[in-house]
Amino acid sequence: MAQETGMMNDLVREIRELKQKRGAVILAHYYQLPEIKEIADFVGDSLQLAQQAASVDADVIVFCGVYFMAESAKILSPEKTVLLPDKSAGCYLANQATGEAVRKRKQEIPGCVVVTYVNSSADVKAESDIACTSSNAVKVVKSIPEDKPVLFVPDRNLGIYISKRTGRQMYFWEGCCNIHDNLTLEEIEAARAAHPGALVMVHPECRPEVSDAADHVASTGGMLKFAQESSSRSFIVGTEQGLIDTLRKLCPDKEFYPAAEHMICPDMKLTTLEKVKESLEKLEPNIQVDPEIAERARKSLTRMLEIV
Ligand code: 13P
Repeated sequence: MAQETGMMNDLVREIRELKQKRGAVILAHYYQLPEIKEIADFVGDSLQLAQQAASVDADVIVFCGVYFMAESAKILSPEKTVLLPDKSAGCYLANQATGEAVRKRKQEIPGCVVVTYVNSSADVKAESDIACTSSNAVKVVKSIPEDKPVLFVPDRNLGIYISKRTGRQMYFWEGCCNIHDNLTLEEIEAARAAHPGALVMVHPECRPEVSDAADHVASTGGMLKFAQESSSRSFIVGTEQGLIDTLRKLCPDKEFYPAAEHMICPDMKLTTLEKVKESLEKLEPNIQVDPEIAERARKSLTRMLEIV
């Protein structure tokens, strides 16, 4: 144990030195492992991370998250080196739409505005009019003129949630995040029974009946804010479990329970301290985006950032 801690301390020290040498910043999503969030310069939700990627003053960004996040960082800051410590860290949801499929669907809905959730590939963003994250999706959809049909890609559950919040009919895409979509109403009810009085917070990527049954529906950053501001002492957390250690750290006097034990995203757990160190040493895996695709995708991301 002591030996393990010693090795970990050495790794952290080496990462800090390398970071300095490379002029790098480390960005991490809330779902990352605790030791990764510990060494990060900035930890946030998808929107906060995109804002950081667009504005941070550094030559190198080490993105501790999944592929589409690092890709968005590269699109927003093409002059920077963007490293994703494990290039195989993908996203089940992002894999459910391709640029070509979106192009085809657009042709079937004349005049439609394509709103694309950031959990998507660069070529899907390039086919889109505007991007959104779960924390600004309602605002983004509200910004679109009422007479324009909206095609929402690729998360169906999030699309339905926005449609309910805005009263707006939209065309949906048949995609979902498997981690959130697997959370059932029965599991929410069982968690409520096990923790009487606890408030249920869920991510809008959950199924409609789960979101409807929750006390609060929000992005990861929104859940943190809600827990910090709420007078309630205990919460059931319906999102990837990585958020829970951050919730406990920021609200040490409150209780947090996972809504279901299975809510763990294996891709988000692929980043390790060893891989972060190696990426800083080798400046690899260095994320690249085709410049033509990046230019079109940047427009949809920039429009989103202007609306926030
Ligand atoms: P937020 O951090 O924006 O809530 O989204 C994270 C995510 O990718 C959910 O699957």
